[in-house]
Amino acid sequence: MAGAPGHVVLVGLMGSGKTTVGRRLARRLDRPFVDADEEIERASGRTVAALFAERGEDGFRSVEADVLADLVARSDPTVVAAGGGVVVTEANRALLASPGVFVVWLDGSPAFLASRAKPKPHRPLLEGEDPRTVLSRLHAQRAGLYREVADLVVDVEPFHREGERSKARLAEHVADRVRHHEDVTVEQPAP
Ligand code: S3P
Repeated sequence: MAGAPGHVVLVGLMGSGKTTVGRRLARRLDRPFVDADEEIERASGRTVAALFAERGEDGFRSVEADVLADLVARSDPTVVAAGGGVVVTEANRALLASPGVFVVWLDGSPAFLASRAKPKPHRPLLEGEDPRTVLSRLHAQRAGLYREVADLVVDVEPFHREGERSKARLAEHVADRVRHHEDVTVEQPAP
C-alpha cells in the first residue's frame, strides 16, 4: 500500500539553496511551496529584521515556531523552505520528526555556503561579521541538530557549482527520494 503524500521540509544553513530548490521541488511534486521566512513576515505583520530588532532572536524564534506548527498542521501536502535556524528550537525538532514530515538537509561546507549566502535584510545574523566565520560557527552548533531530524542529507556543493542544469538535477534527485519514501511507507494499523 502506498503511503500518503506528506509535507517536505528543507532545512540547512543560509546559502544552501532551500528556497531555490524548494520552488523547483514543489513544481515537480505538484505541491504548494511556502518559504517560512515569508510566512513569518505575513503572519506577524513585521519583517524578519524588525522582529530581530524589536523582540530579539528569542522573539523571532517564538514566531518561527508558531508558523512551523501551522504549516505542519495543514492538510494539503506542502513543500516548505524553513529558515536556517528552525532546528535550534526543541519543539520544532519534535514537529519535524513527526511521521507525515519528510525532512531534507541541504548541506555544504561553511566556506562554500558563505560564498553563496548573500547578506539580505532577513539575515541579521550575517550583519557585521565575516559570513565565513558566522557560518562556521552555526555549522558547528547545528550540524548535529540537522542530522537528528533529517530523512535525507544532500551535499549541495556539486549541484550548485555546475549551474542551472544541475539545480534541476538536485530538485529531481530530492523529488525521487520523496516519491520513493512515500511509495514504501506502509501505514501501520492502530494497535
Ligand atoms: C536564520 C536564517 C534565515 C532567517 C533568519 C535566521 C538562521 O533564513 O530565518 O535570519 O538562524 O540561520 P534563511 O536560512 O532562509 O536565510
